[in-house]
Amino acid sequence: MYSEKVMEAFKNPQNVGEIENPDGIGTVGNEKCGDIMQISLRIENDVIVDAKFKTFGCAAAIATSSTATQMVIGMTIEEALKLTNKRVIEVLGGLPTQKIHCSVLAEEAIKKAIEDYMSKKK
Ligand code: FES
Repeated sequence: MYSEKVMEAFKNPQNVGEIENPDGIGTVGNEKCGDIMQISLRIENDVIVDAKFKTFGCAAAIATSSTATQMVIGMTIEEALKLTNKRVIEVLGGLPTQKIHCSVLAEEAIKKAIEDYMSKKK
């Protein structure tokens, strides 16, 4: 059902946890399944230098969040805002159709964390 890359990211997830005193934090719920995702970011000069996630979500949510957090580290906030769940799914070699909604959690939580950072900056 899952690609090898998804299984690998699920079995050995990266960036699990929470950044202390994060520059931005975003928590979102999935309307389809009710699962929850939190992403915290460390941002320096508008560049994401660290990202961590915590989730009450399934294997697909864990794999996509692990991959998405790895991808955004080193990106500017503008670049990270353009990261889509589709791109994360491509990197992971695809997801079963009924699991696509799980990958939206990471994209939305990253966006929310960046919005939080921008609102604090003002
Ligand atoms: Fe809820 Fe996958 S079933 S995140």
